[in-house]
Amino acid sequence: MTASVHAPLHFIDLIRKKRDGGSLDQREIALLVCGAADGSIPPEQLSAWLMAAFLRGLSLDETRALTLAMRDSGEKFSPARLGKVAVDKHSTGGVGDKTSFLVAPIAAACGLAVPMISGRALGHTGGTLDKLESIPGYRTALTLSEFETVLEKCGASIVSQTPKLVPADRILYALRDRTGTVESPGLICASILSKKLAEGLDALVLDVKTGSGAFLKDRKDSEYLAALMVATAEAAGTRTVALLTDMSQPLGRSAGNWIELAEAVELLCGERHPASEDLRELSLILAGWMIYLGGQAESSEAGYQSAATALTGGSALRVFFAMVAAHGGDVSVFNNPAAFHKPGATQELDAWKNGFVSEMDTTAIGWAVQRLGAGRERAGAPVDPHAGIEFHARRGTWVEKGQPLATLYATNSDCLAEPIALLKQAIHFSKTPPQQVPLVSRTFIRETAEVYLRDAVRSAPSF
Ligand code: URA
Repeated sequence: MTASVHAPLHFIDLIRKKRDGGSLDQREIALLVCGAADGSIPPEQLSAWLMAAFLRGLSLDETRALTLAMRDSGEKFSPARLGKVAVDKHSTGGVGDKTSFLVAPIAAACGLAVPMISGRALGHTGGTLDKLESIPGYRTALTLSEFETVLEKCGASIVSQTPKLVPADRILYALRDRTGTVESPGLICASILSKKLAEGLDALVLDVKTGSGAFLKDRKDSEYLAALMVATAEAAGTRTVALLTDMSQPLGRSAGNWIELAEAVELLCGERHPASEDLRELSLILAGWMIYLGGQAESSEAGYQSAATALTGGSALRVFFAMVAAHGGDVSVFNNPAAFHKPGATQELDAWKNGFVSEMDTTAIGWAVQRLGAGRERAGAPVDPHAGIEFHARRGTWVEKGQPLATLYATNSDCLAEPIALLKQAIHFSKTPPQQVPLVSRTFIRETAEVYLRDAVRSAPSF
């Protein structure tokens, strides 16, 4: 018996096991993760295993083991030293999603520490770091000790992943991106949670997008991912909630880099705009859950009220400006955001018929934003801080032919034709108003997530 426990493992056997529908145990998962992080398993073998995992799915135990092994593959952050409860929010990616710029300072203003490690534009979705870097001087790449100093001083810090944090994810994610194995619930769960759990969080709020702009288009897949992430993070000791939120149209009225920051800061300044109300509401709901799970309110509803007070009273704005300054950013650009906005080319897109705006293919809209210059063609290429789209109509708005639908901001006029063609295909009109979609359609906490997963495994045992 001892002999089999210590029998050497060969990665080729783990590829074959997964290919044939088996489940890897903890020791086998540990070999995979260590081998990815230290480079001892070659990329072709890792890629073969990823494809087998994508096609066969990961069991709940495998997902949990993979998440924890990836979390432990590098350095970890310990916010306990700050003497505050640490909470974070993570979104599965969307178009116009700028809630991080609101929820991080709101939760910090309510007494929590928010160590937020964020990402760059991915596929059709924008990246929090790219948006922040449109502020002159803002440094997203801090060392762990600089990160801790900013958190101590301001309560919130939004940074990029350090090279030493979850190195296994960097390798596996890059391979998934190149081998068509991104859209797997188990792999997404392990990738996102390993990074969030390495932040040493006490509580986590997950914003799982559904609808035409989400990565997982099928609603059942989004639900499964939400439940899977809640159950996995809770099993690792982090209080977690997941909200299923609408991505059937861009969030708020802008999508791009600088223009998204300007919209978020407008709300932090207490201003209201009808087309930014969904952004304001979702930010308060997410922040309310952060405040509740972080122990600063009796319920998520009471947390919402505290969040609203921090927003309207200006304390969240003060945290945001302090954080930007602590990262080296020039806050004076917010004195006149419109004057700072200098796109290379601007073009208005007018409605081409009368009708209600009925459907938006938000993924196509996201690609239009990226191709205006807000995203990158190659990894590591710079992005245009001023590129993006401002929307003048939302789903359900009645428009007359010739009325402005959107304003496009591009790096130069050569970048306008493709995004305009994409928008013309993406936006549809109808004679009757479309059915409204709720901003938050479902909430998973530990108990509801576990029940959901039990039923899902019963009806589709391959999960
Ligand atoms: N974001 C991540 O960090 N990982 C994924 O797998 C998907 C989105």
